Amino acid sequence: MRKKVLVVGGGGREHAIVDALSRSVQVGKIYCAPGNAGIAEQAECVPLKDTDVDGLLAFTKENAIDLTVVGPEAALAVGIVDRFRAAGLKIFGHTQAATAIESSKDFAKRLMAGAKVPTAAYQTFTDFDEAWAYVQAGSLPTVIKYDGLAAGKGVVVATTAAEAEAALRDMLLDGRYGEGKVVIEEFLTGPEFSLMAFVSGRQVRPMVAAQDHKRAFDGDAGPNTGGMGAYTESFATGKSGLSFITDEDYDFAVAKILQPVADAMADAGTPLSGVLYGGLMKTPDGIKVIEFNARFGDPETEVVLPRLESDVYEVFEAAAEGRMLPALRWKDASVMGVVMASKGYPGSYTKGAAIQIAPSFSARIYHMGTKKTDDGLVTAGGRVLMVVAEAPTMPAAARLCYAGVAQITCDNLFYRKDIAKYVL
Ligand code: AMP
Ligand code: GLY
Repeated sequence: MRKKVLVVGGGGREHAIVDALSRSVQVGKIYCAPGNAGIAEQAECVPLKDTDVDGLLAFTKENAIDLTVVGPEAALAVGIVDRFRAAGLKIFGHTQAATAIESSKDFAKRLMAGAKVPTAAYQTFTDFDEAWAYVQAGSLPTVIKYDGLAAGKGVVVATTAAEAEAALRDMLLDGRYGEGKVVIEEFLTGPEFSLMAFVSGRQVRPMVAAQDHKRAFDGDAGPNTGGMGAYTESFATGKSGLSFITDEDYDFAVAKILQPVADAMADAGTPLSGVLYGGLMKTPDGIKVIEFNARFGDPETEVVLPRLESDVYEVFEAAAEGRMLPALRWKDASVMGVVMASKGYPGSYTKGAAIQIAPSFSARIYHMGTKKTDDGLVTAGGRVLMVVAEAPTMPAAARLCYAGVAQITCDNLFYRKDIAKYVL
């Protein structure tokens, strides 16, 4: 009997997950809640919000779903995995307690300190005056992080004392993101990269690394976004998937960062059972952790999963059941993805602009925020589409990718023209 799978979420990450599942010989039917216009071509979309745990639970039972796969952290943070497991349902993702590795910076920092995982020096504060005194006594730039989920807006790299004070006011006095604590961190330098792993208890199966591009505009200018593009390179320059991350760097990141975190979580009685995402930096003093996420990265997933040759259903199911994960096989290809976002993003933007995709379009396309109307495909979010191409080399993947971007017409989209420039 082929399996029925429900994917929770509705962005580019979930489109890439649905696409990977559709390549599995084990999978017969895929549902996605809520999905989007692109996902609807590969799965049956269900109009339920990713955090509507009651609705998702009822849907799963009624439709005899074999396995649920969770994309967004919001669903994990409200305890969807705990609720499904309590109901005897199979689900891929971390428990609410384990999701603290992402949802609480303070928890993550304390865990890293205990496991001797390299990361920026830090202190945690709840009191504005103490935090402000600490900043004034320290050096600039300094990094101020809100201790909770803040939709990617909880991190301020302050280059002046005034910026630092304003951030502390927002977070500790004005309750901009809710009640809370802040973590004040040492400012690190070096190229950043993302290393994700499937984790089942103490077992860590690393994926190939990828690099995201967080700033809105070319040359890393403009505001921070959810990510404007990503790439991963062929094995020609080593096993990590990034030419600036040596085999030694990669082994270090797995053995001294991901593995000790999986072990520490298991020791604490909150074992991991999903994706552990390391946001890492190659500093002059070696690889250090910038942040952890408790889920697949977006847009990294859209370039990493296309390289996975192993059956992703088997990986998800093994983690969901707390079993040994199968070995992973990766395609030796370079993959690049360019995000097309609504003009104004990450600030305010309008929706509903018509999108035309040329019939000759030949790259892969993952929908991030689109909607199908009677008049055709329209924009429905900040990040709208991700064009993804793969080729034996990075320059060839980049050419194919931008050729794909040129075949999309929409008067309200912009994109970066320098994705992967770091290595090209
Ligand atoms: P995050 O939302 O935690 O991914 O942080 C956003 C960005 O802030 C990161 O991608 C880094 O570029 C930057 N950042 C965070 N922490 C540090 C740090 N300790 N040193 C330098 N940059 C940092
Ligand atoms: N690409 C960064 C993230 O998923 O948080």
